[in-house]
Amino acid sequence: MRLGVNIDHIATIREARGIDSPDPVQAAVFVELAGAYGITVHLRQDRRHIKERDVKLLNATLKTHLNVEISLNKEILEIITSIKPGACCLVPERIEEITTEGGLNIIKFIEPIKKVVKELKENGIKTTLFIEPDEELIKRVPEFEVDAIEINTNKYSECKDITNEVKRIKNAAVLAKSFGLEVHAGHGLNYYNAKPIAEISEIEELNIGHSIIGRAVFVGLERAVKEMIELI
Ligand code: PXP
Repeated sequence: MRLGVNIDHIATIREARGIDSPDPVQAAVFVELAGAYGITVHLRQDRRHIKERDVKLLNATLKTHLNVEISLNKEILEIITSIKPGACCLVPERIEEITTEGGLNIIKFIEPIKKVVKELKENGIKTTLFIEPDEELIKRVPEFEVDAIEINTNKYSECKDITNEVKRIKNAAVLAKSFGLEVHAGHGLNYYNAKPIAEISEIEELNIGHSIIGRAVFVGLERAVKEMIELI
């Protein structure tokens, strides 16, 4: 199981003051030293946390892997195809949302998604679709010719009784894997709920942010990352 640590909220703290620290680029060094597989950031249209400068510097300095979450926005796509990180995860984005609210609507936005995927592929960027664990949706994924899906675990993270949701995620992962897709998962995972998802053998990567950065405030970033790696 690979852990991608989402460091957006290091930048959220920076932006609370509008100054230049804490720097997510410095944070990434500690995350790497702790043994994470890679770093994930979300370059939002409103630049509420991560900025173009962060993505550029992370891409130039990381020793591991950079995964950037982006919407279908044209300007963001231009930035990303010029920086060329290792991977991109396509997510829906709404300016008013506090965090990503759901998986991509791959039925409604077939053509725009295909166009973005094509551009990312032409630039050698590994491409992932963030998607709900819904069999009917997963069946449609192969036509997008992406490398991977990231299953949205948000609903799971809010469930009181997780049994059905774990089953749904497992089935989605099995189906995606049978199509030759890499399977990732993330959103809302924390130190108390990540294990049952990590135990799904078809899932190869988890992207976790808020809970790790939150714990880091108390125990330090390296320890928070190490504890999550141990857990999953
Ligand atoms: N995966 C995706 C696609 C996301 O949008 C986010 C949030 O930016 C995460 C994973 C990480 O979610 P969390 O911060 O709840 O761990």
